[in-house]
Amino acid sequence: MLKRGLVSVNGVVIRCADIKIHPEIDLITLNGEEISYKKHIYIMLNKPQGVVCSTRDGLSPTVLSLVPEHLQRKGLFPAGRLDKDTEGFVLITDDGELAHKMLAPKSHVPKKYYVELQDNYNDNYSSRFSEGIRLITGEQCLPAEFFKGETLSSCYVVLHEGMFHQVKKMFEALGNKVVFLKRIQIGGLELDKNLALGECLEIMHKNVEKLLQICDAD
Ligand code: URA
Repeated sequence: MLKRGLVSVNGVVIRCADIKIHPEIDLITLNGEEISYKKHIYIMLNKPQGVVCSTRDGLSPTVLSLVPEHLQRKGLFPAGRLDKDTEGFVLITDDGELAHKMLAPKSHVPKKYYVELQDNYNDNYSSRFSEGIRLITGEQCLPAEFFKGETLSSCYVVLHEGMFHQVKKMFEALGNKVVFLKRIQIGGLELDKNLALGECLEIMHKNVEKLLQICDAD
């Protein structure tokens, strides 16, 4: 691209790669279009089942293998984990600071899940969630929100912490079983409804701060 004269810096066509630029001050254009400098990248993945949330795994495909080439960068990692059989919103980024803020136990960034249950839910689920469920293993969960779904065995829950297998264990404590689980929101940012399973979308900078917000309860 340089050799073809497609790159210019502050309006001057540049043909050699060793020129020093200041990415936050200089105006770089490629083919006449401005390229803005981004310190970090934030990717929304709609994770399918069968894919693991780690940077490497000998057996199963990892979420990183689903990141298309144009979004690949050094240092990408999944910020938070979903189980292998859970679908939905995984944030992939190279921004360790944001990931830390999002995942730190005391930050309580809400995560919203769509859940299908083996048996119909009970009328007491809403109050059990809002009181804070005690898991069978003894851990006490923070108060969470339960909302009825479109059928008697589907629902939505919002958690403010992220223990291992937490949604599954909360329903286990209520004597039920999760048969399908999908994360549909992190903080104030919803999983894009047009994003197919296995696809990635770059999160625009103006939406990044929503990842740390409180989400709407509906
Ligand atoms: N809770 C679970 O049980 N599994 C997940 O993948 C996420 C939350």
